[in-house]
Amino acid sequence: MQTIQQILEARLRAAVGDSGGVPVTVQSAQDARFGDYQSNIAMQLAKPRRANPRALAQEIIAKLDVSDLCETPEIAGAGFINFRIKPSTLITHFAALAADERLGVPTVPLRRLVIDFSSPNVAKPMHVGHIRSTFLGDALARIGRFLGHTVVSDNHIGDWGTQFGMLCFAWKTILNKDALVVDPIGELERIYKAQNERCKSDPAQLDAARAELVKLQSGDKENLGIWREMIRLSQVQFDTIYARLGIRFDVTLGESFYNPWLKDTVTALMEKGIARESDGALCVFSDGSVPEKEDSFLIKDENGWKDSPALVQKADGASNYTTTDLATIAYRVREFSPDEIIYVTDGRQQLHFRQFFAIWRRWQPASAVKLAHVWFGSILGEDGKPFKTRSGDTVKLADLLDEAVERASKVIAEKNPDMPEAERSEIAKIIGLGAVKYADLLPNRQGDYVFSWEKMLSFQGNTAPYLQNAYVRIRAIFRKAGNSPVTSHESPVTFTEPAEFALVKKLAQFGEVLPSILDDYRPNLLCNYLFELANAYHSFYEACPVLKAEEPARSSRLALSDTTARVLAKGLDLLGIGVPERM
Ligand code: ARG
Repeated sequence: MQTIQQILEARLRAAVGDSGGVPVTVQSAQDARFGDYQSNIAMQLAKPRRANPRALAQEIIAKLDVSDLCETPEIAGAGFINFRIKPSTLITHFAALAADERLGVPTVPLRRLVIDFSSPNVAKPMHVGHIRSTFLGDALARIGRFLGHTVVSDNHIGDWGTQFGMLCFAWKTILNKDALVVDPIGELERIYKAQNERCKSDPAQLDAARAELVKLQSGDKENLGIWREMIRLSQVQFDTIYARLGIRFDVTLGESFYNPWLKDTVTALMEKGIARESDGALCVFSDGSVPEKEDSFLIKDENGWKDSPALVQKADGASNYTTTDLATIAYRVREFSPDEIIYVTDGRQQLHFRQFFAIWRRWQPASAVKLAHVWFGSILGEDGKPFKTRSGDTVKLADLLDEAVERASKVIAEKNPDMPEAERSEIAKIIGLGAVKYADLLPNRQGDYVFSWEKMLSFQGNTAPYLQNAYVRIRAIFRKAGNSPVTSHESPVTFTEPAEFALVKKLAQFGEVLPSILDDYRPNLLCNYLFELANAYHSFYEACPVLKAEEPARSSRLALSDTTARVLAKGLDLLGIGVPERM
C-alpha cells in the first residue's frame, strides 16, 4: 500500500507540472500546529520560475486536487504548503494499514546490496570495536531485506597477514594444548602476545617467525594446517556470538579467499598506469583529477600539499589490506552484480576507503556500482575514555553480552520476584542483548557514545526496555481481554479523540521512515521513530480507556493497540531486537 506521503507527493507532482528535475517532496510536519505534512516545493521553484514563492504556492494549491484527503492546504511562512489530513482519511488509512502484512511499508524499487560488516580477525577475540559494525550492518541488512532489496551480507574475516608467521611459530614452540581445548581464542591470544614479547627482545625469534611466514605463504603443508586450525577455532567462537545475537551472513569469505587474485590485481593497476614503483613498493598517487582538497592521495602540511600514496604492494613483494579490498570488490562485482556495496567499519578507516574507492573508479571507470563507507565513532567508558575493563584490557564482546544478560536478569527479578527462574532467564536474554544493541544503534553513528549499563537497561527514556515494555503492556491488555481477537478487522473502526488520531498519524509514518533509513544508513531514525510511537501510545492510553470503553470505540482502540504492538515488534525486529510477552 502507498503511504500518505506518497499519495500527497503524487498529487503535488501533478499540480506542479514540470519541475525541471527538482524533486517534488512532502515531509511530515515537525510542528502539529502547521498540519501533518508540509512541502517547500514552491520555495524551491520560485527562483527558476522567477516567481514569488507565496504566489507560486497559491498557484500550485489552485491546481492541487486533494479535497478527498485533506482540508484545504494552507500557505505558511515564506511559502510552505501545509496539509492537514482529514479524520476520515486517517480512519480509512488506518484500517488498510492494520490489515496490511507489511504494516503500511511500501516495497521500494529493487536493488542488489552487498553489505560487508562485522569482519572480525582470526585468533583474536571479538571486542567492543566490532560491536558497532556488527549491529549496524545487521540492522541495515534487515531493513534492506524488508524493503524488498536483495541483500548479500558478507563477513570479510581478517584471516591473513603477517601475524600468522608469529602465530605459526608460537604454535610450534609455546602452545599449551590443554589451554587450547578449554579456551581456544584465549590461548591463541596468549601465545601471540608472548611471541611478540619474545621477538622484541630477541632478533633470532623475529627471524624465526618471519621464516614461518614465508613457509606459510609458499604453501608449506604443516603451516597451512596450523593456520586452518586457527581459522576453524576462531570461526566457532564467532558463530557462537552470531547465534546469540541472531545474526546471519549469506557468505563468509575471509581475506585469504582473495589471495589467488592479488597478483593479477596489482598487474592490472601497473599496466593501466594507475600504480607505479616508488622505493621498491608499488603505489597509487594522485592523478590530479580532483581539487586538492578532495584528493585522497594528497595531504597538507606547513609546506603545502604533498603526496600521500596508497600502497598496493610492499617493497618485499607482499600485498596488503588495500590490494585485498580491490581483489574483493572485483570478485563481488563479478559474482553478485550489486547496485551498491556498503562497508561498515570504524571511522579510523576513512582514508583507506576513500583511497580504495578512488582506485576502483580509475581501474574500472565503467562500473556503476555505488560504494558507501558507513563509518562510526568509538564507544567510551563513563570516564569519557575508550571503553576498557577495570584492569585496562579491551572488553571482549562475549563477556559484555554475558554481563548484559546478568544485569537484565537482576532488573527483571526486582520487578517480578515471583517469576519462575526459567522464564526469567529467557526474558533476560531478550532484554539484555536488546539493551546493548539499542544503545549502540540510537546515537548518531558518526559520534562517540558513552557506554552506560544504567541508562541502557532503564525502563524510562529512549531505551530498548522502554519500547519492549510498551509492547508488553499492550499484550497484557489482550490477555486481560481474554485474548479476544481484534474484532475491528471486520467491523469498521472509528476514532473521535485527538490522542487516537495522533497515534494513527504516528503509525502511518512507519512506512515513511523506513525507506529513508538507507539514504544515509541511519538506523537511529528507526529508533527515534519507535520511541515517538511508544510515547504516542502512552498518551493515547492515558486519555482513552480501552477495555472499559463502549463499542465501537472498544474494538477500534483494541485494533489501534494491536497495530501499535505489531509495529513496535516489527521495528525492533528490524534492529535485531526481540520482544518478550512479559517482563
Ligand atoms: N577486519 C577488519 C578490522 O577488524 C575490518 C574489515 C572491513 N571490511 C573490508 N572490506 N575492509 O578492522
